[in-house]
Amino acid sequence: MLTKTLLSAASLLPLLFSTASAQTACNNSPSLCNRPYNNITYLGAHDSPFLRDESTSFSTSGNQYYDSTVQLDAGVRLLSAQVHRQNNTSGDEAWHLCHSSCDLLDAGTLSSWLSNISNWMDSNPNEVVTVLIVNSDDASASDLGAQFVSSGASKHAYTPPSPSTIPQTWPTLQSLISNRTRLITFVASLSDPDPNFPYLLDEFTFVFENPFENTSPQNFSCTPDRPSDLATPQQAAQSGRMFLMNHFLYSEQLFGIQTPDVDSLDTTNAQTGAGSLGNAVQTCTGTYGKAPNFVLVDFFNVGPAIASVDAANGVQGPVGRAPVSQEKLQEITSGVSRSRSSMAAVVVAVLVGVVFSM
Ligand SMILES: *[C@@H]1O[C@H](CO)[C@@H](O)[C@H](O)[C@H]1NC(C)=O
Ligand SMILES: *[C@@H]1O[C@H](CO)[C@@H](O)[C@H](O)[C@H]1NC(C)=O
Ligand SMILES: *[C@@H]1O[C@H](CO)[C@@H](O)[C@H](O)[C@H]1NC(C)=O
Ligand SMILES: *[C@@H]1O[C@H](CO)[C@@H](O)[C@H](O)[C@H]1NC(C)=O
Ligand SMILES: *[C@@H]1O[C@H](CO)[C@@H](O)[C@H](O)[C@H]1NC(C)=O
Ligand SMILES: *[C@@H]1O[C@H](CO)[C@@H](O)[C@H](O)[C@H]1NC(C)=O
Repeated sequence: MLTKTLLSAASLLPLLFSTASAQTACNNSPSLCNRPYNNITYLGAHDSPFLRDESTSFSTSGNQYYDSTVQLDAGVRLLSAQVHRQNNTSGDEAWHLCHSSCDLLDAGTLSSWLSNISNWMDSNPNEVVTVLIVNSDDASASDLGAQFVSSGASKHAYTPPSPSTIPQTWPTLQSLISNRTRLITFVASLSDPDPNFPYLLDEFTFVFENPFENTSPQNFSCTPDRPSDLATPQQAAQSGRMFLMNHFLYSEQLFGIQTPDVDSLDTTNAQTGAGSLGNAVQTCTGTYGKAPNFVLVDFFNVGPAIASVDAANGVQGPVGRAPVSQEKLQEITSGVSRSRSSMAAVVVAVLVGVVFSM
């Protein structure tokens, strides 16, 4: 871990020196420093901590090949995760990052994830990051706030003037950076904002989304889906909310189970072509007269998705990013045998269960 940090720090040094002589970059480009927070398109990693890699035996529930730190290093600036209530091994309640259910995929505690993000922000003082918490078990602001405090993330947090009024203009990246309030946090949903944790913002007060449960490229649309009282794009635009554009696909499995669609990824995350991210950004930019604020994708490295985001921002020659492979990660042979043997164990367990229940 330390070696990895040192190595990645060392690999960034030449980039830091080369940009120090030029203008300072904000979120990987000097051209973004003086733009308001809500006049930028951010790449979002959907279900950021849910990995399809060695650590999960290539779980088909995973949405990303690389973890949240690698995502940030590569230019992702919005991280989303589902938070569930889970009893830990000592029988105490804890808040975990789980995909649909903690039996399916448990990526650890909210606090450990936030501390990874907070540590990354400590080492990258010119970067503005947005976290989107899907509040699956209706945690209160104080439940979540306690994790922000214990992880250290609260020290980076930005609080807007009001928890219930959409700002006319958001601060520029440079002013968020100068004020050291570089972490913007949305919770879907937070029914009771709490003045003790004023940086925890109810997502749908400030943001609207298009539909997210898509199984075919033909399903992608720019129309508002949530909050439900926005019926038309005109209403969504006039509300002053920022636009989060979901752009990922599910495959339908047996028994109605949906898993992230990896077969269509090369198209879904591409810059051009029917069903591509680049096309969707252009179509929705036409609908709203401006680019989406956030684009949320699975397997962010494929495409690469960030190319469509740079295009939307007019960013050329981004600086300070650590490159990541654009390939889909494939299970290697030893991994295959391990997941086969765990599958065999499940089959045995099921058979034993059947025998004993008869
Ligand atoms: C956690 O344990 C308590 C006490 O045993 C129980 O009442 C509660 O339902 C459990 N919560 C979850 C999410 O399993
Ligand atoms: C369980 O959660 C409690 C409360 O958050 C914490 O104090 C304790 O260390 C945890 N135990 C384990 C084994 O994770
Ligand atoms: C936090 O980072 C550590 C070290 O890279 C990693 O092992 C762990 O899985 C991360 N935690 C989460 C919840 O992503
Ligand atoms: C920066 O901090 C100052 C002093 O607390 C405050 O008056 C100002 O509104 C802050 N600016 C932004 C953009 O938050
Ligand atoms: C998604 O697209 C498929 C294929 O065109 C279509 O059959 C299905 O009805 C669409 N679903 C929705 C919710 O629009
Ligand atoms: C930012 O403003 C420019 C110029 O008006 C516009 O072209 C672009 O779409 C805006 N982007 C966002 C995310 O608002």
